[in-house]
Amino acid sequence: MRITILGSAAGGGFPQWNCNCRNCAGVRAGRLNAKPRTQSSIFVQPDTALDGVLFNASPDILEQIRSHPTLQPNRAPRDTAIAGVVLMDGQVDHATGLFMLRERSSALPLWCTDPVEEDLTQGNPVLRVLSHYCGVERHRIDLDGTGFEVPGVPDLLFSALPLSSKAAPYSPHRDDPVAGDNIGMTIRDRRSGKTAFYAPGLGAITPAVFDAMCGANAVFVDGTFWTDDEMPRLGLGRKHAREIGHLPQSGPGGMVEWLAKLPAATARYLIHINNTNPILDEDSAERATLTRHGIVVCEDNMAIQL
Ligand code: MLT
Ligand code: MN
Ligand code: ZN
Repeated sequence: MRITILGSAAGGGFPQWNCNCRNCAGVRAGRLNAKPRTQSSIFVQPDTALDGVLFNASPDILEQIRSHPTLQPNRAPRDTAIAGVVLMDGQVDHATGLFMLRERSSALPLWCTDPVEEDLTQGNPVLRVLSHYCGVERHRIDLDGTGFEVPGVPDLLFSALPLSSKAAPYSPHRDDPVAGDNIGMTIRDRRSGKTAFYAPGLGAITPAVFDAMCGANAVFVDGTFWTDDEMPRLGLGRKHAREIGHLPQSGPGGMVEWLAKLPAATARYLIHINNTNPILDEDSAERATLTRHGIVVCEDNMAIQL
């Protein structure tokens, strides 16, 4: 399979429009060794087909499609290589791009859990809005490990795992989590037998999550924050990483420690990086720590062949 990183930043992107933190101001002024990034999304294709699955629909989706002409093939007067969209949660950075797909010539095939469908018909009613345009052909993602396939995307099998993270602020479960607010996904290529585990919003490594990570050839996991108090410490709000469902990378029990426990051959990627995270600075000590641990920081437009 081929995994294309369309957007590697967390909500807000990098630089964030209104942010003057060291990273955002530095990259804007061209004095920081860092690459701008769009918001969180990947595209996964089997080796045997052009069409693939879009994971998350970012607010930057139009720019992401423009940067990847293979997502806009020319087999018909109106065409797309997006055979279906799979949502990992119902947050703004993962769902708002759905509005932009309204010109589709047929109903949009969409896979999400029940709680995410509820949030996207109530708190942020994008699915109701789309019913006035292309319409949505919604498929339920079950959490019992039952795999699903996406028609038009042969050879790839998807299976979801509930994660401990956070629903959107407009969700009735924001402070009262239910299974399926956030999911991780195992993607298996039936031909090669290779698997990837994708979890851009991951608050805790439960035994089931660790098992899924250990079983994967490559993991793409939450890279939002380096420290739990990253935003309050910079004077950018009161929210701590763990409070909003993101396991920080550094310190005891952090993501770096967990990734070090994976089998030696596992490829390790961080994705969904917040603009405040020092790992965005390629010359930082924090980035050097990741490199020493064999952990790659995803960039937009990276393509990984598995
Ligand atoms: C998150 O991952 O915590 C959210 O997407 C943050 C946001 O976009 O507001
Ligand atoms: Mn997010
Ligand atoms: Zn910033």
